Amino acid sequence: MKNKLKVNLDKDSYDIIIDSDILNSTGQIISSNLDVGDKVLIISDQNVYPLYGNRLKKSLQEEDYQVQSHIIKPGEKSKSNYELNKIYDLLLKSRFDRNSTIIALGGGVVGDLAGMAAATFMRGINFIQVPTSLLAQVDSSVGGKVAINHPDAKNIIGAFHQPEIVIIDISLLNTLKSRDYNTGLAEVIKYGYGFNQDLFNYIENNIKEIKEIVPEILSKLIYNCCQIKSDIVNQDEKETGIRAKLNLGHTIGHAVEALTDYQKYTHGEAIAIGMVYESYLAEKLNYINPDQINRLKNLLTSFSLPVTLPATISFDSLINKMKTDKKVKNNQIFLALPNSLGDTIITSDWDQKNLKAVIKKSP
Ligand SMILES: NC(=O)c1ccc[n+]([C@@H]2O[C@H](COP(=O)([O-])OP(=O)(O)OC[C@H]3O[C@@H](n4cnc5c(N)ncnc54)[C@H](O)[C@@H]3O)[C@@H](O)[C@H]2O)c1
Ligand SMILES: [Zn+2]
Repeated sequence: MKNKLKVNLDKDSYDIIIDSDILNSTGQIISSNLDVGDKVLIISDQNVYPLYGNRLKKSLQEEDYQVQSHIIKPGEKSKSNYELNKIYDLLLKSRFDRNSTIIALGGGVVGDLAGMAAATFMRGINFIQVPTSLLAQVDSSVGGKVAINHPDAKNIIGAFHQPEIVIIDISLLNTLKSRDYNTGLAEVIKYGYGFNQDLFNYIENNIKEIKEIVPEILSKLIYNCCQIKSDIVNQDEKETGIRAKLNLGHTIGHAVEALTDYQKYTHGEAIAIGMVYESYLAEKLNYINPDQINRLKNLLTSFSLPVTLPATISFDSLINKMKTDKKVKNNQIFLALPNSLGDTIITSDWDQKNLKAVIKKSP
């Protein structure tokens, strides 16, 4: 089984290792692949640390690293300046230096916060990702985007800081709540729908196995997703061009999350809705056909992901929110739209009238 990928970014290149039951070997993987100092800070959350923290800590100590742990409350609220400052306090108190390392053990929240600390402390120290949610394993741990939230805007304070290595242990997925697992599957489906038709077919053909978290199937899925993301990041690390294609489903999805106060939907659920409505728009523009959209909707539905906008969201509220998206340039809203199954284009040429019509006919 292929289980290693390389993100090629000159001196910032790094490996992604994907396997089952490798958490206990993390220390060994790090010491044999990287030249980092002996001080390590594990950042994790209150759900993940009790499950996996001690195993990670022990494997690092066996390789003679000096390990400290810092545990945050789970949830988006922890991606805050307040929590970031607490990490700086700890790093200073423990005399971390330029050669020290932060390891993120958790989902995207832990990864983004820990990565912000690693990106900024002493203008950047070593960062290692051990992603534990499916979303983090296929998306947030790869690509180097790190961020915290401002009370008025998500992910608005951030940096690019590539990890030294990403270590993905598929067996950790077994303890995820099913809603969190499904939210990651929305991103997996996005990679198939927007970037690789074979991957989309593969998901369709393995629904039962995916629900059962069969390791061989999951490692293939995660490998393919990480490959798509790293190929794109290799070409456009700082998102000046094609990296924006990864926002498929996200412009409408982010608006849906914000308009429902980040309470009603998980990120993946909002992205599922976003992909469907961006597809309706793409259909109007003749980029995709109804059969392909039906396949998308069926697949999302089979993993309990929503496919309809809630009645509370009007066209006006949606378009106003979309205008505040980070992807807006010169007042034009650039959308990543599906272009047939397995391809994505970026366009600002889609006319609001078309979106209005699509939302009006919404089932
Ligand atoms: N940096 C990027 O490129 C990027 C990309 C996508 C998303 N994100 C960010 O990622 C965040 C969402 O990530 P997420 O969906 O992983 O959310 P999360 O980190 O909140 O994790 C979801 C829940 O699952 C729990 N959990 C994680 N792993 C577990 C495991 N193995 N067993 C049991 N419980 C576990 C967590 O404690 C949490 O309650 C958002 O803040 C988003 O902005 C960042
Ligand atoms: Zn996403």
